[in-house]
Amino acid sequence: MKKARIAAIILLIAMIIPAVVFAGGQTEAKSGDDVYTIGMSQCNLGEPWRVQMNADVKAEADKYDNIKVIFKDAQNDTLKQRSHVEEFISAEVDLLIISPKEAQPLTGPVSQAMAAGIPVIVLDRAVVGDDYTQFIGADNVIIGKAAGEWAVETFGGKGAKVVELMGLQTSPPGQDRHNGFVNALKGSDLEVIFEADVKWLEPNARKEMESALSRFDKIDLVYGHNDPATHGAYLAAKAAGREGEIMFIGIDALPHEGIAYVKDGILNATFQYPTGGDVAIQQALKIFAGESVDKKIVLGSRLFSTENVDAGGVPLN
Ligand code: FRU
Repeated sequence: MKKARIAAIILLIAMIIPAVVFAGGQTEAKSGDDVYTIGMSQCNLGEPWRVQMNADVKAEADKYDNIKVIFKDAQNDTLKQRSHVEEFISAEVDLLIISPKEAQPLTGPVSQAMAAGIPVIVLDRAVVGDDYTQFIGADNVIIGKAAGEWAVETFGGKGAKVVELMGLQTSPPGQDRHNGFVNALKGSDLEVIFEADVKWLEPNARKEMESALSRFDKIDLVYGHNDPATHGAYLAAKAAGREGEIMFIGIDALPHEGIAYVKDGILNATFQYPTGGDVAIQQALKIFAGESVDKKIVLGSRLFSTENVDAGGVPLN
């Protein structure tokens, strides 16, 4: 009796041990081989649009058990962003997503990641050349051109005076939003009488608009390269009691920012600039699966104006 009991216990133990070892081995294989780490280098989180981009990345990544995203915020400091990329390279992340502050200084670090065998998705602001895996972003020339066409349609034949508050001119979206706009104005009687690089920042825009207001008695339109810039200009005009004589257009169209401004009658129009955060994660999954991906993905934009905002805007491309 006693012997039989001992034999039964030994048999039980013999059955349990391999099961535990096997299960342990399986778990290890899953967390070791199948979980991919993505480094997300964000140039700043001081602007609502970038907070939204990170939220979009996170929401999409959270749908998958096998993706882990590490976020780094460079606080609008190019040197800090360069170090962040280097840290991600040393940590041997499986993929890098970068939304660079400026093109030129971040080009080298992106190339270094590529040379280390880390695929790179460049999001929203470009780098120089094409040493990366994929670029994802909306077309800023199309957006700038649409803003110019809106202005010409709205003011054509009336000789409007325009203030342009530009995004950082060492970042490609700032250059493209300017070029698209001025090209669309060519041949019209609209004239840019004041322009300034406000570096995407609302306080800078407010200050520049104050000096524009003090220099010019007649301002018909403010074109800000993002909604915070346009909002800063609106506040300056309101403080001077002149907001009623000026139209205001911006870019980004976040639901709780630009679109809300249009609904509240602060902005006359805003052009959507999608963050692409969700698309970046979907593309990362394809890269992990060994699929080839397009070198460039152009995201669609929409125009939201006083007339169409309640109906959801109209597409530009
Ligand atoms: C935020 C932001 C957005 C703008 C984008 C351009 O930093 O300025 O408002 O659309 O960057 O890269």
